[in-house]
Formats: sequence, structure tokens, C-alpha cells
Amino acid sequence: MTAFEHIIVESKGAVGIVKINRPKMLNALSFDVFSEIATAIDDLEEDDAIGCIVVTGDEKAFAAGADIKEMQPKKFIDMFSQDFMDIGGDRVTTCKKPTIAAVSGYALGGGCELAMMCDIIIASDTAKFGQPEITLGTIPGLGGTQRLTRAVGKSKAMDLCLTGRMMDAAEAERSGLVSRIFPADKLMEEVLAIADKIAAMSRPVAAMAKSAVNRALETSLAEGMNVEGDLFHATFALEDRAEGMAAFIDKRKPNFRNR
Ligand code: CAA
Repeated sequence: MTAFEHIIVESKGAVGIVKINRPKMLNALSFDVFSEIATAIDDLEEDDAIGCIVVTGDEKAFAAGADIKEMQPKKFIDMFSQDFMDIGGDRVTTCKKPTIAAVSGYALGGGCELAMMCDIIIASDTAKFGQPEITLGTIPGLGGTQRLTRAVGKSKAMDLCLTGRMMDAAEAERSGLVSRIFPADKLMEEVLAIADKIAAMSRPVAAMAKSAVNRALETSLAEGMNVEGDLFHATFALEDRAEGMAAFIDKRKPNFRNR
């Protein structure tokens, strides 16, 4: 596997874990960090042993945002010539395998945006989410105004983007940004159990479910229903669909073979 400087990549069973590892800077996301995460996603997506990917930080910070010290001297032309997208800053969103953000502590700015690129956000009770870019004289640049608005609605997204305030895990769960909350010392154990469960599903069916849910954010209800219908019908071309239903009828666990 690729050697990394700012992240730690490991696998536990069928789960790939990408851990941001810049604790002294609260896991600030430099260009190199984004680029390493993109490479790690490439590697894990290619690895047939992996069925689900967890992106995480440490107890104090998932990530406190893009690296302000790195960005501070940059001018318009620098950011325009090579922006976060150019170095794969959005790579997590194009991953076909299911992704989970396991968030403890700060998930601010680019950190909140990175979490929102994942399919599911699971938080510890210490998590704090926010888009504080306005306090730095800028605005979110990796989906904070777009994905947050779709996740929590206009009023709360405006509140967060215009005041720069943080919301705690309970508010984030209430608002629909976070799917579940666990005590900080149990977060990884619980997330890995959820990731294991997802990884044990049929991989092509999980990819179809993910693709269909994502279409809901991009298209009309009628179009989305068409996409869902096509993918639902497509599952009937898979051995795994036949196996899943046979296992139900036989009262046994399905043995999905990803075909
Ligand atoms: N970039 C660079 N360094 C950062 C950082 C960041 N986003 N966040 C924290 N650090 C550094 C601090 O500078 C500090 O370094 P030094 O020890 O060298 O001074 C170290 O991490 C520890 O941070 P604090 O001393 O500030 O820790 P704290 O516990 O007092 O405060 C905090 C924690 C409230 C999260 C505070 O660090 C903070 O406000 N961080 C910045 C949050 C932010 O504005 N994020 C948005 C970035 S812009 C962005 O993300 C753009 C985009 O959309 C792509």
C-alpha cells in the first residue's frame, strides 16, 4: 500500500480506515492531506477485500478545517490555478464503496465538508460541527454552502455559514446532518460494527443503493423514481438478489458473493 505522511490507512477485516494524523494542528487539511486522502480512497476502492471505508480523525478533532496557515499567503490566482478539486479534494464523493465519517471533536470548515462528502456521518457526543469560514473573511469552498443546506435546510445552513457558530452533536443529529451519536470512547467500536455490517452486504447492491440515494439530491422526484426503478430491476440480474431472497425463505444468513 502507498506510504503516507499525514494520514494512517489500515484495514480491519473488510473495512478500510483512513485516519487523518496531524494532531498538533487539529488535523488541519492541507493540500497534501486532501491529496493523500484521495490516493487512499483510490487504493481502498481498488482493493477487493474492502467493502466499506471509514474516514476519521482523533478524539479532539475530526479536522478543524482547511489549513489556514497554508492558505493565508495565497492569492486569487493561486487558488484559482490549483484549487481543492484539482488535487482530489472531493474524491470521497466519487467513491463507489460506502463511506462513513466517524467524527469526534471538531469538524469545522473543510472538516465538516469532508464529513459531508461521506455517505453517513456518525458522531461522538463531543463532536462539534461548523462552517466558520466567514470569521476568516472567506466562505466554504468544498461544499459547505451546498451539502450543508441540503442536509439541514436553508435556515440552519444560513445560521451556521453567516455566524460561523458551532453546533454540537445533539443539534447535528436533530438537524439530520448526523445519523447516530455514541459516547466518545465507544465511537470507533460502534462505527466499525456498522461498517462491518455494510461490508457484509452484496457489494454491487450496496453500490446501487448508494447511487440511488445520491440521485435524490441531484434530480426531480420523478427522475429519481425512474433511476431507483431501473436499479431495483437491475438487482434481479444478480446472483446475490436470488441468494438474499432464498436465504430469507430458508431462514439462514445469506452468502453474498458480489455478483
Ligand atoms: N488550520 C491551520 N492550523 C490550525 C487550524 C486550521 N484550520 N485549526 C487549528 N490549527 C492549529 C492552531 O493554529 C494551533 O497551532 P499552534 O499550536 O501552532 O498555535 C493548533 O492547531 C491548536 O489549535 P488551537 O490552539 O486554536 O486550539 P483550541 O482548542 O484553542 O481551539 C479551534 C480549537 C476552535 C478548533 C480553533 O483551533 C479554530 O478555530 N480553528 C480554525 C477553525 C476554522 O476556522 N476552520 C475553517 C478553515 S477554512 C476552510 O476550511 C475553507 C474551506 O471551506 C475549504
